[in-house]
Amino acid sequence: MRKTAEEVTTGPPQETNSKMMCITLNKFLINVHKLGTSLGYFCHSPNEQKKMKITYLGHSCFHIDTGKAQLVFDPFIRPNDKAKGKVDIDKLKADYILVSHGHDDHTADLVYLAKKTGATVVSSYEVHSWLGKQGIGKTHPMNFGGSWTFDFGTVKYFQAAHTSSFADGTYAGAAGGFIITTDEACFYYAGDTGLFQDMKLIPMFHTLDFAFLPIGDNFTMDAEQAVIAADFINCEDIIAMHFDTFEFIEIDHQKALDSFENMGKSLLIPEIGVIFEK
Ligand code: NI
Ligand code: MN
Repeated sequence: MRKTAEEVTTGPPQETNSKMMCITLNKFLINVHKLGTSLGYFCHSPNEQKKMKITYLGHSCFHIDTGKAQLVFDPFIRPNDKAKGKVDIDKLKADYILVSHGHDDHTADLVYLAKKTGATVVSSYEVHSWLGKQGIGKTHPMNFGGSWTFDFGTVKYFQAAHTSSFADGTYAGAAGGFIITTDEACFYYAGDTGLFQDMKLIPMFHTLDFAFLPIGDNFTMDAEQAVIAADFINCEDIIAMHFDTFEFIEIDHQKALDSFENMGKSLLIPEIGVIFEK
């Protein structure tokens, strides 16, 4: 049957038109849901734990997407041969850069990354003062025992058994670490440190889900002592850092893993450039 000129220009009568629209809309919604499910958007059960996306950038440098903010810890990327071809500093996003201490293997890319991203740098008062002289004004100074609540969660700056100075010789205060509490998780980033008794204070105030501990020996504790540190902080789930970057801190991976396994704890030795969830 030939369509009238009116049908050709305006389509079928109104009722059929709205039915077709309903079917089309339904099909569209089903496809959106299928796509969403395949991407993991619609399959959260109410009890499912929120996860943080963590990328190891080499040495003690990590990028963490907390779900609310992008954090970078101890930026040391361009001078790290082990990170070459695996990490592109210019693609890194950061709302906050957390700096444990002034040593070059934790701050070599700090000024560059802070300028490029406009991130707020959280560190000791002395690191904040030094950054001011480098033209970085977006900083948040802290000192040991103090906490501050940022838009992504609460940061406590905690002592470390280590020294701290900048490559140019400037005094950088004392070395520290961070305890971060967000809606998603509570974790400890120890920075560079030897084993020390004050770590036992942490579980008195925080229930840690996971912790970043140095295991490379020579400049920090080794894996065997990190197992004891894991006990002190009452945390079973440890992520290794500060290993293999230089000859002084090359480690036997299997031996490190065994040290933890023998004590019923888990050690993740992360691979540079690889994302994992916690
Ligand atoms: Ni250091
Ligand atoms: Mn170091």
